Amino acid sequence: MSIYSEKITLITGTAHPSLAQGISMHLSIPLAKAHVGRFPDGEIDIKIMDDLRGTDCFVLQPTCPPVQENWVELLLLIDSLRRASAGRITAVIPYYGYARKDRKDEGRVPISAKVVANTLVGAGAQRVLALDMHAAQIQGFFDIPVDHLYAKPPLLEAVKKIGMERPMVVSPDVGGIKMARAYAKSLDNADLAIVDKRRISGSQIAVEHVIGDVSGRNVLIVDDMISTGGSISEAARVVRDHGAKTICIAATHGVLCGPAVERLDAAPVDKVLITDSVPPKAKLPAKIEIVTVAPLLARAIANIHRNESVSSLFLEP
Ligand code: R5P
Repeated sequence: MSIYSEKITLITGTAHPSLAQGISMHLSIPLAKAHVGRFPDGEIDIKIMDDLRGTDCFVLQPTCPPVQENWVELLLLIDSLRRASAGRITAVIPYYGYARKDRKDEGRVPISAKVVANTLVGAGAQRVLALDMHAAQIQGFFDIPVDHLYAKPPLLEAVKKIGMERPMVVSPDVGGIKMARAYAKSLDNADLAIVDKRRISGSQIAVEHVIGDVSGRNVLIVDDMISTGGSISEAARVVRDHGAKTICIAATHGVLCGPAVERLDAAPVDKVLITDSVPPKAKLPAKIEIVTVAPLLARAIANIHRNESVSSLFLEP
């Protein structure tokens, strides 16, 4: 018998209220009432208004910028729920910040993605629902169940609406091949190419070669995230230089920090599809389109609550 009641609730921090509204609408459940504010000194002030004793609680909070604020809000919400005797607490993290720091690749550096995992579990999270984590192995940083969703289904639907003829899928770096292969498979085994990328600094990269012939092709570049836009705009430039006819980008997390919007605007790209896993910027160039992940997250939450399969939401038919 389940330890939590049939009651289910969605509660949100301040990171992404519109996504929370969207999920709540798709689930047909109201958002739990909570005060998430600030004390005069900037510390986070939280109070949950509803009685959630025994309830299956889903806490929505992407840990996007301001990363530290959003992260601590999430921890304090989880702690409040635990102390209020919630039945089960699932952290719903559409964008998992610090995911790129997932290994000790030089001396005297932290494994930040592991620290995030430790703090979530320490605060009282009993499950995690995440979307396109930078590296799937981050799941191993948790000793609690992690449901890892992919934004490929809604992004692919948007790509198909564009109607690209004989698309060729391009990975902007070697690390993205698995994702690119998955998109290629879903696009009737489309051809694949890879951009040879070298990172110079956090915001600067160097790209010169493309492995594969993109000349005259309609190219779909796929990535898990666009942060400063360096990787994707350089990938677009190099595939255009190698003769690509049209270029569309599909990326899950449009973090778009620093010069990202200007870079995307200036890049030789026809269309950029990003999801609303993080709050979309207010003013975006017309070629950037937002694809919502609210229905996907709502379905995953409903399936978790009912103890039904989550992987069925993204497996190929
Ligand atoms: C790299 O491994 C990632 O998949 C993204 O390509 C990268 O993090 C994007 O960062 P930026 O937009 O700053 O180049």
